[in-house]
Amino acid sequence: MAAPPAEPLAVDYDTVHVAAADHRDALIDELVHRGSRVVATQDDLVFSADRPGPAAWAANTWLAPALYRVESIGAAAHCLKAIQRNWHAHPVGHHRRARLIAERLPTIRFRPLTFPSAPPSAPLGAWTLLSHDRLLASRHTTSAFADGAPAFVEDREGPPNRAYLKLWEALTLAGIQPGPGERCLDLGAAPGGWSWVLAALGARVLAVDRAALAPAVAANARIETRTGDAFSVRGADVGHIDWVCSDLIAYPERLLELARYWCDALPDANIILTVKCQGPVDADLIARFLAIPGARLRHLHANKHELTFFRLRDGGPSEAAGRM
Ligand SMILES: C[S@@+](CC[C@H](N)C(=O)[O-])C[C@H]1O[C@@H](n2cnc3c(N)ncnc32)[C@H](O)[C@@H]1O
Repeated sequence: MAAPPAEPLAVDYDTVHVAAADHRDALIDELVHRGSRVVATQDDLVFSADRPGPAAWAANTWLAPALYRVESIGAAAHCLKAIQRNWHAHPVGHHRRARLIAERLPTIRFRPLTFPSAPPSAPLGAWTLLSHDRLLASRHTTSAFADGAPAFVEDREGPPNRAYLKLWEALTLAGIQPGPGERCLDLGAAPGGWSWVLAALGARVLAVDRAALAPAVAANARIETRTGDAFSVRGADVGHIDWVCSDLIAYPERLLELARYWCDALPDANIILTVKCQGPVDADLIARFLAIPGARLRHLHANKHELTFFRLRDGGPSEAAGRM
């Protein structure tokens, strides 16, 4: 083990967020709205103080940022190795120097996950060079994946579209999945990527959409289809449900009502719901989703201009934003 690094320099922030792609402004609004002080930004990094913890629009959050003065590439690599083994570089400039530092660190192989499997359990730190002699390193981050981006061994045969990757990612972060003996309600199910995921896990699925599922998905014996308006489905109409999943496209306000309804109607169910955003993101809306007891929100790597809402029986996923 290398000698301990030099003392970190004083900084006026306690958290550094890596903004989800194209969502830095939404992240800043979210942080300000929740009472964090945004101290600085650099590229896709947002430095904040006062309200540490994950943010919905962050791909990853560095929970213990420490700034070191490093005179050389070797000194930077030594500093990182003295803290811990596993690091991911997130360069925001000084790319060549950062690459030379990274080359001196142990190689980490980020193998694509075969779903379902657990995220890596080894802690993964993150670092960057803020200037040629300023190394910012955080041994603790919210995500086990480099920049919060899991990669999966994809299935190009079974699912009818790529939406299944969103549910794979959500269930991987959730750390639990539906299985045999459980029943799922899939709202806005067509053409059937999410229903395909749920059925492949052994669960039975009630798939509701105005549109038809892809024939191969509709033919799955574990999937029952119902054609019609998914917003008018009520708990009394569907029998016992363990999981409610929704990938409905609708105005966020309507999706908020939907989340409130199902969280209230089925207090013991796990709920995963895509929050499609339209135009500039309303930070107050995020707060209203998070006001639902047990709610968590996160921008998944597979998400576009949308967040994923979780209300899980066991509380997770820890990398998602929760009520502050
Ligand atoms: C993004 S797609 C869902 C994709 C699906 N999760 C998959 O994996 O294949 C959104 C779906 O919501 C459905 N939808 C939108 N509004 C609806 C409503 N009021 N009732 C039922 N389905 C609706 C659309 O027909 C569309 O199939």
